Formats: sequence, C-alpha cells, structure tokens
Amino acid sequence: MNYSISSRMASMQPSAIREILKNTANPDVIPFAAGNPSPDAFPVKEIENITQIIFGSHPVAALQYSVTEGDGHLRRTVQQFACGREPDLMREEDELIIVSGAQQGIDLTAKCLLNEGDVVLCEDPSFVGALNAIRSYNPRLVGIPMESDGMDLLALEQALKTEKNVRMIYVIPNFQNPSGVTMSLEKRRALYRLAKQYGVVILEDNPYGDLRYEGEHIPAIKTLDTEGLVVYCGTFSKIISPGLRVGYVVANRALMPKIIVAKQCSDVHTCILSQMICDQFLTSCNMDAHFSNLQKIYRAKLTLMLDAMEEAFQGRVAYARPQGGLFVWCTLPQGVDMLEFVQAAMAEKVAVVPGTAFLADQSAPCSSFRMNFSTPANQQITDGVEILGRVLHQFIR
Ligand SMILES: Cc1ncc(COP(=O)(O)O)c(C=O)c1O
Repeated sequence: MNYSISSRMASMQPSAIREILKNTANPDVIPFAAGNPSPDAFPVKEIENITQIIFGSHPVAALQYSVTEGDGHLRRTVQQFACGREPDLMREEDELIIVSGAQQGIDLTAKCLLNEGDVVLCEDPSFVGALNAIRSYNPRLVGIPMESDGMDLLALEQALKTEKNVRMIYVIPNFQNPSGVTMSLEKRRALYRLAKQYGVVILEDNPYGDLRYEGEHIPAIKTLDTEGLVVYCGTFSKIISPGLRVGYVVANRALMPKIIVAKQCSDVHTCILSQMICDQFLTSCNMDAHFSNLQKIYRAKLTLMLDAMEEAFQGRVAYARPQGGLFVWCTLPQGVDMLEFVQAAMAEKVAVVPGTAFLADQSAPCSSFRMNFSTPANQQITDGVEILGRVLHQFIR
C-alpha cells in the first residue's frame, strides 16, 4: 500500500532525542543525551506500598474508565500542591485538569489555539518535544534568541510587531530545556506585559521548577495573570515518575472546555491507576523531604559534571552553571563542527544531543550540544566527560 500521508504529518520527523536514545539503549553508551530522572530518584518502595493500598481498598475504581478532566480527588490534591508551591497560580476563573504528562498539555493547547499558518514564538533553543507537538498543527515557528536571563525581549517585541497572526508564546521559565537558563522576574513581568499588549497567549511549561539547587524561587508567569492569558503546564514526571504519565494544565475556564474535548478525542482520560498513585503519594509522603532528597542527588551530579568539564575542556567549551533542572548547554569553540564532534563522541560511545535538534529552524547554524547529568551514573559522568575532552582535543589540534 502506498500511503498518502496527511499534510499535517508528512513533514514531521521523529524527535532527534528519541532517535539518539535508541542508540543509548546499548548499556556501553554513556547517556548524556537523555533527560530521564536518575534511577536513584524514584520512590520505589513508597509507590509499591501505595499500589498495594489502592488494590486493597479501591481495586475496581483503579481498573475502570474514569472522567476526562481527571479524578476529582486528585484535581483537588494537585490544586493544593501547586498553589502551595506557587501562590496565586490559580484565580477564581481558572481551572485545573489532569493530563497525560506536560507533553499532552502542550499538544492539546496547541490543538485548541492554532490554525495552519499561525505564528508561534518560542525560545531558541527550546524543548524539541514541545516544538514537534506545535509543528504538527502547521504553524510557523519563530525562534527568539535566548540570553542569560531568558528570552531577548527586544527581539520578542519586534516579532510581535512584525509577524502576522501570532497566537502563542511558548516558554520554559525555569532551568530551561535545553539551555538551563532561568528567566528573571523582571523578564517574566515584561513578557507578560507584552503578551497582554498584543493579546497573545503564553504557554508556560514548568517541569523543572521544583528541581532548584541554588538561588531563590521565582514566581511562575501564571501567578501574574489577571487576564486569562497564560496556560500553565505542570508535571510529576521529573519529581515522581515519567512512566506514570501524570501532569496538569491550569487555564482560564473560557478555554478549558475545549482542552477537555481535545483530550477526550486523544486518550479519553489519563491512566486512573497512575492518578490514584500520584494522589496517594502527594497526600501521604513528606513532599518537602522528597524534594530535598531529589535536590541533593541532582546537585551532587551537576557539581560532579561541572568539575569534570572544567578539567576536561580547559575553558575551550562555553557553558553556564544552571541553578536547577537536568541539563548543561555547551558551546564549542569556533572552527569545531558540532555535528562532527557529536558523531565522534558517539563513536567513542558517549551520546550528547546536537543543539540543532532544539532550534525553531533546524537548518540554522549551531555549535552547541546538550548534556544531561541526571541519567548517567557518577562514574559514567567522570569517564564520559573525560572522553569528550579527548574528542575535543582531536578537533582542536
Ligand atoms: C521542557 C519540557 N516540557 C515537557 C516535557 C514533557 O514532560 P512529560 O513527561 O510530563 O510529558 C519535558 C520532558 O522532558 C520537558 O523537558
């Protein structure tokens, strides 16, 4: 059969990260390319106990169909949890629903708001999974360069002035994937003012907000939202388990019914057993102690990676120390071909992600690559960075 692929999907390529991850299934490959939580970070015992309790008390409910917007008890629990961490996250006119990971929240929001040919502004670089979900609705993606404190707002304002039909600005304000950058409070306020002035929705994606290893918490853009301009996506993937596929969306009640219908078409509802596990975890575990433990694990891994990079790269690779999250964004010296470097590293069994994967325009020149420090074991971090240093020296000589 010669399939005629829809125009929506014809130009879509598999995510570069997923493709690289196929190679990293080989246990000999050092996995700096993934974004998976550390195996040490999973609360295995707690989830085992919780699952037993659920099957002891509500076995049928755990196996039955459920409602699209998410289990009522979990929605209240998550609302309490999210508003406890981000006061003013929700105003009276906002609603919270449960989705199958932030990825679905992004996809459903794009599905509800975008027509073919609309313009979406995003940080450049940005999270490839979100960019691909957005691309599948055939808008034009326009990348706004990143600075050390978030998007270049002059470039953003210029794009808002000159581009027609800008519908959405997609941002990851905390420990951005892939750049590690955190948007300053001043920029969050200014970004919100611009979005309000131009009547454009902000899609705020915050999977890493609770993984802060230094510095002070900065309030979410959604907490500034008096106009229903911000759609906020949260997730338990990085702080409990990505395999559970539980996330949430907070949006104005004028938009939410459409997001719910879109979800109904997509997967009916998020796995109810996962929802019940999350609910029990959030209500029965000491979340502050859990976060302290995660922060301790990741702070140590980040420090290990940065120390190893300092020694191996000897100042030749540029990178900033992220205050949280799971990634370090590295830029090669002029004259080193990034793709050749990534391939040479892969030949030495070290996987990193080429920076082009994260660009709005993937054909644009790029000399950066993304390193993840949560997935590899400590010895792999030390060995892998040393290998990258050796590979780099081959290119510089
Ligand atoms: C910035 C960003 N947004 C969303 C997601 C997707 O998260 P989830 O597992 O909740 O779908 C990820 C996952 O890596 C991410 O890095």
